[in-house]
Amino acid sequence: ILKRSFSTTPSMHIIKNITVIGGGLMGSGVAQVAAQTGHNVTLVDLNPEIIKKTEAAIANSLGRVAKKLYKDTPEEGEKFIQGAKSRLRVMTDTRESVKDADLVVEAIVENLEVKHKLFKSLDEFAPQKTIFASNTSSLSIGDIASCTNRRDRFGGMHFFNPVPVMKLLEIIKTSETSEQTYNELMACGKALGKVCITCKDSPGFVVNRLLVPYLSEAMQLLERGDASPEDIDTAMKLGAGYPMGPIELADFVGHDTTLAILESWHKKFPDNQSFNPSIVLKKLVQEKKLGRKTGEGFYKYTK
Ligand code: 3HC
Repeated sequence: ILKRSFSTTPSMHIIKNITVIGGGLMGSGVAQVAAQTGHNVTLVDLNPEIIKKTEAAIANSLGRVAKKLYKDTPEEGEKFIQGAKSRLRVMTDTRESVKDADLVVEAIVENLEVKHKLFKSLDEFAPQKTIFASNTSSLSIGDIASCTNRRDRFGGMHFFNPVPVMKLLEIIKTSETSEQTYNELMACGKALGKVCITCKDSPGFVVNRLLVPYLSEAMQLLERGDASPEDIDTAMKLGAGYPMGPIELADFVGHDTTLAILESWHKKFPDNQSFNPSIVLKKLVQEKKLGRKTGEGFYKYTK
């Protein structure tokens, strides 16, 4: 007798082809990690100059990862680097980049209008099967997804800088994200080598909701002249066991990012004083002293 079994759950489709949009700090980290874990990756940025810088940053970071993973077998390390590079292609054509995508991870500027413009076009050109994810750190995933016709296949994938080193990935499920999409995002996060946690589509999710007010408090402490940047950093490293103090961490995250997060929250929750951006933060952004990535923030960086 032939026994047939019917599955009631739709079959999971495995995410193999990943398109990452945006060649900044986060986008390049996500593309690198996806390529080094065996995915076919397409990295898109409209600016060819940024693409050049991104490729150099990925090559450098792959070298660091290989050195760590293959300490005693440099030939294996070289294979690892070449393998990752062979699975990574870069381009400036957004439409072309999503033709075969199973997943799109967006990591562009934190501006809802710009993200809507991008996702509307992606919605038109990506196949039905493609899942969309945003790496936003300040906007609501539901608000971003609202411009598309695939709100059930839309979720958040929030990575941490430096992406190749930080083990966490926050998976964000909106009220419209389907169970299947959520499961596929969780499985993909695991395949990327990350530990995934789930959070509702709430401001800052878990990490930034706790971390950003902390960074902001540290800047206000500095602004009041209560302690020097060095002493604030030493205090939190040696007194609370953090790998970086809040002032150096703010430089590391980038002041444009932190300001974008605080401003969007301040607009939504004007009564919450921890969301009020400090004067010193606004000044640094105005002066384009965005932190490590521009060579100067609270501290100066030579390399
Ligand atoms: N690529 C690959 N490897 C890297 C790397 C990169 N970009 N950056 C650091 N590493 C590796 C190094 O090669 C080194 O490897 P080793 O242990 O084999 O020598 C290891 O990481 C440690 O690096 P360093 O020795 O250079 O320096 P540290 O020990 O100080 O570590 C750090 C650097 C991992 C960045 C650590 O200071 C740290 O964890 N800092 C906190 C970072 C953090 O909090 N990130 C989250 C920011 S919030 C965010 O991203 C969310 C956004 O939405 C705002």
